[in-house]
Amino acid sequence: MLVTKKILVCVTGGIAVYKAVAFVSKLTQAGAEVKVMMTASAMEFVTPLSFQVLSRNDVYFDTFDEKDSSVIAHIDLADWADLVIVAPATANVIGKLANGIADNMVTTTLLATTAEVWIAPAMNVHMYENKSVIRNIGQLHEDGYRFIEPSEGFLACGYVGKGRLEEPEKIVQLIKERFSQPENQPLAGKKVVVTAGPTRERIDPVRYISNFSSGKMGYALAEAAVSLGAETILVSGPVELPKPNGVQLINVESAAQMLDAVLTKFDDADMVIKSAAVADYRPKEQFTQKMKKQDGDSSIELERTTDILKTLGERKTGQVLVGFAAETNDAIEYGMKKLSTKNLDYIIVNDVTDPDGGFGNDTNVVTLLSRKGKTYPFEAMHKKELAQVLLRTILELESDVVNDS
Ligand code: PMT
Repeated sequence: MLVTKKILVCVTGGIAVYKAVAFVSKLTQAGAEVKVMMTASAMEFVTPLSFQVLSRNDVYFDTFDEKDSSVIAHIDLADWADLVIVAPATANVIGKLANGIADNMVTTTLLATTAEVWIAPAMNVHMYENKSVIRNIGQLHEDGYRFIEPSEGFLACGYVGKGRLEEPEKIVQLIKERFSQPENQPLAGKKVVVTAGPTRERIDPVRYISNFSSGKMGYALAEAAVSLGAETILVSGPVELPKPNGVQLINVESAAQMLDAVLTKFDDADMVIKSAAVADYRPKEQFTQKMKKQDGDSSIELERTTDILKTLGERKTGQVLVGFAAETNDAIEYGMKKLSTKNLDYIIVNDVTDPDGGFGNDTNVVTLLSRKGKTYPFEAMHKKELAQVLLRTILELESDVVNDS
């Protein structure tokens, strides 16, 4: 249920850190991608290695130790997370956050993130009842932070009372409930087919015709579809990317194989997104043995592949059909033409000569065109973020269509 969800766990210093270890383990088992950040006091209780092993990610604790020089770690993590959870949260970190203090990596990240932040306090019962702690918690409630109340019981300090970090299983359950709310799963119960990557059209056993598609855009769209609740089928040409969690992956090589795979999934699909860069031509003849070089020039006769998207456009019975257009000039004009000739509902146009977009880049710059002839331009964005934005925009436009009719 938490597949594709990115959760940043901020661990601050108290004896309940040992429960945070179990919490991170359970989150990872539930399919979430988990990154952990620790304060210096938290590291007095448990070493970062435990969290590193359980989360299978680096653990962050030093604002000035930049592991990747292309990003600023605390901002990058703040932007990366779908949800940030401070567990255990000490009176100290609660006080700092309530007063806008950012003096270590955890508190700096908490101020920098725009993601939802949950706070799971754990402390001595008298500390929890202290007026200043109550005031700080009240302030954070007002500021929109969500608290996971500590439970009552035997505390490490010897007292019995309220102050125990909520049980890891319970916190994971709350997170699952949060992500399964209908507004976070608009594609629940829907089937989405995404195509990605290039196709390869064989010339002989050692050579082929292909293009520079890396599959990043299509894989990001498949991940986004999963995160929005869809049953997602990813039909992929040959790429060097890991299989996204939660998708059904069908590997293909050629345009003909992609056509077959997509057609088997088309009838009961609700949406098809064709971001694959499919070859328009293939060698008319495929040689079973390696072509030998000869003196002088040579040429290969090419024939057209089937236009998969056009075929789907002719067959569609209610599926939302989304194409891509890779253009180098007059992108909108060509995009509009493809939208209409292939009978699409939407087309996402990218100028592949743009240095911030196109083949192989992590970012893309696109304009979404709708069948109503409207254009929705988007600024340069990471393909993963763009995928979310594009799907949500299409869903919004589709719900307008339903409301209008
Ligand atoms: O994979 P990345 O490195 O992340 O790069 C992303 C991308 C640039 C490949 C992607 O954003 C993109 O533009 N994909 C579509 C590339 C393409 O083939 O565009 P096109 O304008 O040639 O084709 C138009 C549409 O028809 C596409 O949806 C394509 O999938 C489809 N098509 C084309 C030919 C064919 N025989 N069958 C098809 O279905």
